[in-house]
Amino acid sequence: GEMSGGCPFNGDGGMRTLLGRTNKDWWPEATQLDILTEEGKSANPYGEDFDYAEAFNSIDYTALKADITALMTDNQDWWPADYGHYGPFFIRMAWHAAGTYRTGDGRGGAGTGQQRFAPLNSWPDNGNLDKARRLLWPIKQKYGRNISWADLFVLTGNVAIESMGGPVFGFGGGRADVFEPESVYWGTEDQWVDQGVATRIQPKEGMALENPLAAIQMGLIYVNPEGPGGNPDPLESARDMRETFARMAMNDEETVALTAGGHAFGKAHGAEPADTFGGSPESEALELQGFGWLNDADEIGKGHITTSGIEGAWSNNPTSWSHDYFRILFKYEFELVHSPAGAQQWTPINPDEADMAPDARDPSKKVPTMMTTADMALKMDPDYRKISERFLANPEQLDDAFARAWFKLCHRDMGPKVRYLGPEVPSEELIWMDPVPAGTQVSDGDVAAFKSAVLGSGLTVSELVKAAWASASTYRNSDRRGGANGAHIRFDAMKNWAANDPDELGKVLAKLDELRGSISMADAIVLGGAASVEKAAKDAGFDVSVGVTTGRGDATEDQFDAKSFEPLEPFADGFRNYLKTKANVRTEDMLIDKAHLLGLSIPELTVLVGGMRALGANAGNTSHGVFTDRAGQLTPDFFTNLLDMSTKWTIVDGSGDEEYVGTDRSTGAERHRATRTDLIFGSNSQLRAQAEVYAEAGSEAKFVNDFVAAWTKVMDADRFDLSHAKYH
Ligand code: HEM
Repeated sequence: GEMSGGCPFNGDGGMRTLLGRTNKDWWPEATQLDILTEEGKSANPYGEDFDYAEAFNSIDYTALKADITALMTDNQDWWPADYGHYGPFFIRMAWHAAGTYRTGDGRGGAGTGQQRFAPLNSWPDNGNLDKARRLLWPIKQKYGRNISWADLFVLTGNVAIESMGGPVFGFGGGRADVFEPESVYWGTEDQWVDQGVATRIQPKEGMALENPLAAIQMGLIYVNPEGPGGNPDPLESARDMRETFARMAMNDEETVALTAGGHAFGKAHGAEPADTFGGSPESEALELQGFGWLNDADEIGKGHITTSGIEGAWSNNPTSWSHDYFRILFKYEFELVHSPAGAQQWTPINPDEADMAPDARDPSKKVPTMMTTADMALKMDPDYRKISERFLANPEQLDDAFARAWFKLCHRDMGPKVRYLGPEVPSEELIWMDPVPAGTQVSDGDVAAFKSAVLGSGLTVSELVKAAWASASTYRNSDRRGGANGAHIRFDAMKNWAANDPDELGKVLAKLDELRGSISMADAIVLGGAASVEKAAKDAGFDVSVGVTTGRGDATEDQFDAKSFEPLEPFADGFRNYLKTKANVRTEDMLIDKAHLLGLSIPELTVLVGGMRALGANAGNTSHGVFTDRAGQLTPDFFTNLLDMSTKWTIVDGSGDEEYVGTDRSTGAERHRATRTDLIFGSNSQLRAQAEVYAEAGSEAKFVNDFVAAWTKVMDADRFDLSHAKYH
C-alpha cells in the first residue's frame, strides 16, 4: 500500500494542539484522577520493582490456555454467546485492541491494555467490547498480576482462533499493563463517527488522511463498514481500506487475508434500531459499573443485539474456521439491503439453504448471510480481487497468510523479538521485527583505545555527537522500534535523511568504520558519542566518564526493510534544532512529542536540549540556540544566556514565526539567533522553571552529570537485551 501525506502531522486546515481532542474534552463531567498523579506519583499499583517478565514466566501457560478455551463456551446469561461460542467476539476484541496501532508515530496497538480506558473503551467501533472484557475477568482475577490485560486480550484472540480450528502462527507475551489512559493524538473532530462527522479522506477535494492517524473517522478502528461516510461504494471502501491498513503496515495481501480470515467467524449485530441502547461506558450511569451500550435484558436473551447496526454472519459456519467466506462471496451476486437497525449491507441473491447461516440463538433456524461494503471491496476492487481469487483457489495460502498477518497485527508494536515471552514464540524471525544479530562485549582496553583513536582522528565533538544522536534518537518508546542497536543509520535510506546532514554523517561513519576493528558499527557510533561528550565535559573542567554498555550488533542489508523505516524519519527534531517542514503542530510541541517518544522526563528533555546546543549539535550546523562563545564545551551557557535579561528577543520577519533574534537591550547589537524550540525554554513557565535550575550559580556539575545520564538513557533506550525491567 502507498501512504499519502508523507509529512507526519501534516494535514489540511490550521494549527492544532499536540493531542487534539482529549478525554477531558469528550467527557468533561467524568471524575478526573490527574491531581493524584502530580509530582511524579505513579498510578501503577504494582510498583517500580514489579518485573512483569518474571511474573509472566511463572504462569502455568497450558493451564491458562485451557481456562481460556473453557471460557469460550461457558455461557453467561447477562451476555449470552452467539452460537454458544464467544470465540468470534473475542477475536474482534483482540483485533480492535491491536488495530489502533499506526506506523506514523508507533502509537496505539495492543501493547499496554489501553482498551480498558477512555477514549478507546467508548469508541463506537468498540461497541459492546466492554462485555467481552468483563467475560474475561474471572481469568484475569485468577492469574492476577502474572498475566496482564494487554497480553490476555491478544492471547484470548489467539485461543479463540485455535479453538475454532483456525491457523495461528504463535504468541509472544510481554505487554505490561499501564493504569492510566495514554495521551495519544486521535484527531481533532468534536464528533464521533456515529454523529455524522465527515470522513477524513475526500480525495476529490485534495484532502488526504492526516498523519499519523490511521482511521477514516473519529471513533473507528479503520474504515466505516457501510462505506466511506456511509456511502455503500465498495471501490471507494477499498481505497479507504488500502490507506488505513497501510498505516498499520499491512499490504494488500495482508489486508485481504485479515479481513476475510476474521470474518470467517462470528456475526455482526444490528437486530434493533440503534437508538434502543444506552450511551458509551465512559458516559453511563454509576450503577451500570462501567457497562455501556446497554440493550434491554430480555432482548439480549433473545439475541436481539445492536452493535454496529449491520446484521448477520458472513459464512454458513460462523464458529469454525473454513473457506466459506470466499466461496460465498464469489458464488453469489449480492444486493444492497438494510438491516433491522437501518444499516446498509449486502446479501446474496437466492442463496442455497446450505449456504445460509444458523440463527445465533436457534441453530435449527436458517438466516441469510451478509457482506459489509468493506467485504464487497475484496471482490470488487481489481487488486484485492486478484488476491481473493487466489485465496479461493488455494485455501492453504489463505491459512498461512491469515496466520502470519494476525501474528503481525498483534505483535507489531512489541519491538524486537527479545521482548517476546512464553513457550509459543515462533522461532522464525520476521523482517518487521527489525532483527539485529547479537553483538559482543568490547573489553575495557579496546574501548579506551578506540575512544582515544576517535578523538585523535580529526572528527569534531559536534560531528561525533550528531552521529550518535542520529543513530540512537530514532528510537520510539511507542512501538519500540529504532535506536542505536543494529546501526541501521549507516544504510543510505536512513543516512540520507535531511536531518542527518548526510555528507557529514557519511564522513563520520566512514572514519569510525576505519578505526573500529572488531567493534560493531552500532557500538562504534555510541562510543564515538561517549568519547566526544567526555571531551566536551573535560574541556569545561569536569572529568566524567560516559559509560557505554557494548554488545550492540549490526543489522545486515537483508534485515533492513527501508520502506518500513520511513516513518522513523524526523520531520522535526528540536534536539538538533531541526525542522524539515512546518507542520500543523507548533514546532515546540513537536519537541515535546519527540521527547515523549524517547521516553524522556521534563528535566531530561531540558538538560539534553541545553547540552546539545552547547556541543554544537544542530542539523545544518546552524547557530540557532548556540548561546555560547565556547561551543564544544559542555556548559550550561544555553540556559544562562537564555535567561539573561539584557537580551531582548524579537521575531524575524518572513521566518514564518520560526526564527528569532536576540539583541543587546541597550545597544541593539545582535547577540543570538534562536528557533521556537530554543525560546520555549524561556517562554513556557514550566520549562522556564527547569531552565532556571541549570542557570543557577554552582549548577555546572549538576548540569554535566544530568546531561550524561540523559544522554546515556537515549543511547541505551533500545537495549532490551540488557534487562527485562523495561516491560512497562
Ligand atoms: C465483526 C467490520 C476487519 C474480525 C465485525 C463487524 C463489523 C466489522 C461491522 C460487526 C460488529 C458487530 O456488529 O458486532 C470490519 C471492517 C474491517 C474488519 C470494516 C476492515 C475493513 C476485521 C479483521 C478481523 C475482524 C481484520 C480479524 C482478523 C471480526 C470478527 C467479527 C467482526 C471475528 C465478529 C464478532 C462477533 O461475532 O461478535 N467486523 N471488520 N474484522 N470482525 Fe470485522
